[in-house]
Amino acid sequence: MSDFELVDMTMRKHQFRADTLIEVLHKAQQSRGFLDSEVLLHIARGLKLPPSRVYGVATFYHLFSLEPKALHSCVVCIGSACHIRGANQIKQALENKLINNQQISLTFVRCLGACGIAPIIVIDGEIKGKQTIESALLNIQQKCYGC
Ligand code: FES
Repeated sequence: MSDFELVDMTMRKHQFRADTLIEVLHKAQQSRGFLDSEVLLHIARGLKLPPSRVYGVATFYHLFSLEPKALHSCVVCIGSACHIRGANQIKQALENKLINNQQISLTFVRCLGACGIAPIIVIDGEIKGKQTIESALLNIQQKCYGC
């Protein structure tokens, strides 16, 4: 999956309606950990909105972050499909591995909308499906050598 695939899926699902901006921003932040200018412009183009409006909404709500909280971000889906396929064990392993690590922010979401490839983690916006504890730890190590 590409960097914007989940965002594109969400916009397609809502037929690129401008009134779904907040939901699209929310999905973008879930999948990438934060909203950078690249994704904001991508959303503006997709929803045919002025970039200033997308930026304005993204900066108005405190739940949106325009900067990464750490050098890298790892998002673990703990929604039902991912949970059934072992997301909790992956979550636990990553929490143990990344405790006190300032380089990676670890966050959790309740369904990224790609349940067919559960369990999912997203590292720096890159979706990794069908994860195991071992593959999740390996993916983290490959992204962040000091982790
Ligand atoms: S529950 Fe994880 S992608 Fe849907």
